[in-house]
Amino acid sequence: MIIYRAKDYNDLSRKAANIISAQVIMKPNCVLGLATGSSPEGMYAQLVDWYNKGDLDFAKVKSVNLDEYRGLSRENEQSYYYFMHKHLFDKVNIDMNNTYLPNGLAEDPEEECRRYDALIESLGGVDLQLLGMGHNGHIGFNEPGDHYDKGTHCVDLQQSTIEANKRFFASEDEVPRQAYTMGIGTIMKAKKILVIVSGAEKAEILKEALYGPITPQVPASVLQMHSDVIVIADEAALSAIK
Ligand code: F6R
Repeated sequence: MIIYRAKDYNDLSRKAANIISAQVIMKPNCVLGLATGSSPEGMYAQLVDWYNKGDLDFAKVKSVNLDEYRGLSRENEQSYYYFMHKHLFDKVNIDMNNTYLPNGLAEDPEEECRRYDALIESLGGVDLQLLGMGHNGHIGFNEPGDHYDKGTHCVDLQQSTIEANKRFFASEDEVPRQAYTMGIGTIMKAKKILVIVSGAEKAEILKEALYGPITPQVPASVLQMHSDVIVIADEAALSAIK
């Protein structure tokens, strides 16, 4: 595991964008596993900037997102489909037919999970998986629990996640209670993993994830078992680690 210390959020965003760019330059038809949330917003803005300057070409890139709220349509501004289009897909030359997210409106959740796993498999797996980390140590929406789920599944969001994500919604009541997420097994199968973590409020959980016991109670701790992980965290997020 390589841990990069970024000065602040801007530095973190640029460092993370550099890793994604390197991947795209080295393998133009790579499969990127993408994440949403506050952590990668600056990174996506940096990638768009480099694309506009002619330094990056997404024409052959394929992407699979980690997760999507269950019950939100693509048009809903809080859906991850909407997020990805707003922050990246609509601003670069990626082929929309090569971008994939779970379908939040799928009628049969089990069938949707099977479809998504088969899709990832058919793409040959993920070359570089981007992850943020929840305040409770979740990755994707793999919440703390007593076991690791292997494949895509539909989860009940924990109260702490609903609290953390309500900032994006008009009220807490509007936060969906369920989401689709790639499983820990799929995340761990990615050839390379990039984790970005910002802010003092994540300092304790980041320390637990990187140096504590490997346990499904802290889902991100499983990353200690992966052979190719890069963590980029700002000084605030690294403040609990000596
Ligand atoms: C988002 C995702 C989540 C977030 C995590 C951190 O696609 O999978 O695991 O990465 O909740 O969210 P932020 O970055 O908003 O703190």
